Amino acid sequence: MRKSFVVGTALVSFLGLMVIFAPGRLIGQAEESEGGGAKKLAEVCPLNQIMQDVETRNKKLNSSVRRATKTTLKGSAGKGIVHDAYMLALLADNASRYPIPADSKGNAAEWKKLSLAMRDHADTLAGAAKAGQATEAKEAYSSMQNSCTECHNKFRKEGSTTGGF
Ligand code: HEC
Repeated sequence: MRKSFVVGTALVSFLGLMVIFAPGRLIGQAEESEGGGAKKLAEVCPLNQIMQDVETRNKKLNSSVRRATKTTLKGSAGKGIVHDAYMLALLADNASRYPIPADSKGNAAEWKKLSLAMRDHADTLAGAAKAGQATEAKEAYSSMQNSCTECHNKFRKEGSTTGGF
């Protein structure tokens, strides 16, 4: 009788401790794996590869968004804009998880902010194109391009001129 009481109390205390300590440990592990995962991501697919894909899609968008009207947005040009814009949003979201480039002027918080700004503007562009809103699409595209320039000013090495802004 007494023995099972002791065992029971021990079990309850153990479970209590698990509840108190487990969430912290799980969060710790998630952070650790995100950091490690980002490093691996950058090894398998370096940032400049992501940027080359960004550049290709951006060039296509540059001409199609400039010519966009309510009518062109209804056709295949519109579908192309929606697709490329969503891909840019995905690429930017991915880039936000990358470790910041070495020897840059910016910090991790700025990296996150600028990559997520690009993602959100690309997402807005896709939404506007889908809804047939040419003016809004142009505005979102121009805001997205500002995020390219802003990020390059802070994080790209001086003197690199291959494409982009
Ligand atoms: C969050 C920051 C960030 C944003 C946003 C960003 N870039 Fe970049 N980009 C970089 C960095 C850093 C490099 C240098 C990468 C390297 O050389 O390893 C780069 C490099 C490039 C390159 C050169 C790739 C090569 O061949 O080496 C191009 C082109 C480019 N970006 C285009 C764009 C365009 C277009 C946009 C916007 C649609 C954009 N980038 C948005 C950070 C960014």
